Amino acid sequence: MVILETKNLTKHFGGVKAVDDFSVKIEQSKITGIIGPNGSGKTTRINLLSGMLPIDNGTVNISGVELRKIKPYEAYFYGMARLFQTIRLFEQMTVEDNILVILTKRNIFSSLFEKRKKYHLKKAREVLEKIGLSEKRNQLAANLSYGQRKLLEVARVLAADSDILLLDEPFAGLFPEMRKIVSGIIKKLKQEGKTIVLIEHNIDLIRELCDYVIVMDSGKLLAEGEPNKVLENEKVVKAYLGK
Ligand SMILES: Nc1ncnc2c1ncn2[C@@H]1O[C@H](COP(=O)(O)OP(=O)(O)O)[C@@H](O)[C@H]1O
Ligand SMILES: [Mg+2]
Repeated sequence: MVILETKNLTKHFGGVKAVDDFSVKIEQSKITGIIGPNGSGKTTRINLLSGMLPIDNGTVNISGVELRKIKPYEAYFYGMARLFQTIRLFEQMTVEDNILVILTKRNIFSSLFEKRKKYHLKKAREVLEKIGLSEKRNQLAANLSYGQRKLLEVARVLAADSDILLLDEPFAGLFPEMRKIVSGIIKKLKQEGKTIVLIEHNIDLIRELCDYVIVMDSGKLLAEGEPNKVLENEKVVKAYLGK
């Protein structure tokens, strides 16, 4: 079943056609990979879906609801959570508080004075356990290593417990050990029925994780299909793998 569809989605920055008349369908409870050279519009597409950028043209259809405009705060209500390509944590808050802010779905201040703190703390600790950051829970986010900060970002997406997860390069810069944790979590999320959109450069990870792959080039759809077929496609090999 299609859960997320973009029709003729378009976003231009001056002369740059970042996303150009882009139409694709995303299947529910599947892992869909998005690949493409740098600057091909992958992040912009997710910015459009999550309301971070206004859509120039085209529509987004989420669970049958057709939208021409998505405000940033609305994405959550449509069941979407996203992971940013660049890390965006509350640096001067603890690891645990970074999760609590998401769990309580409130602003920073009310989250710190949360009344049902026991329940939320339990949830936060479960998420930190899953991602292997339990021992760091009282440290400031700013004091973590790059890899741990990236894991904390993933933990924040988990805490949101949304149905559709838009993950922009969750593996970037991670050591193999941490990569394994994240790929394990992504597989488990799929088993739980979540829909995952995964932007990733590492072809081995794409092959391992994805049910379906979408290839972007210059804002357009270059190819789509099952990983093995798409990754052998001549156009894709030429444009993306540079061979
Ligand atoms: N906010 C912006 N303002 C101007 N140009 C942008 C902006 N965001 C992205 N672009 C341009 O749009 C194109 C697509 O970028 P992006 O979506 O980040 O690509 P990718 O994630 O595939 O590397 C690039 O040419 C980039 O320079
Ligand atoms: Mg990007």
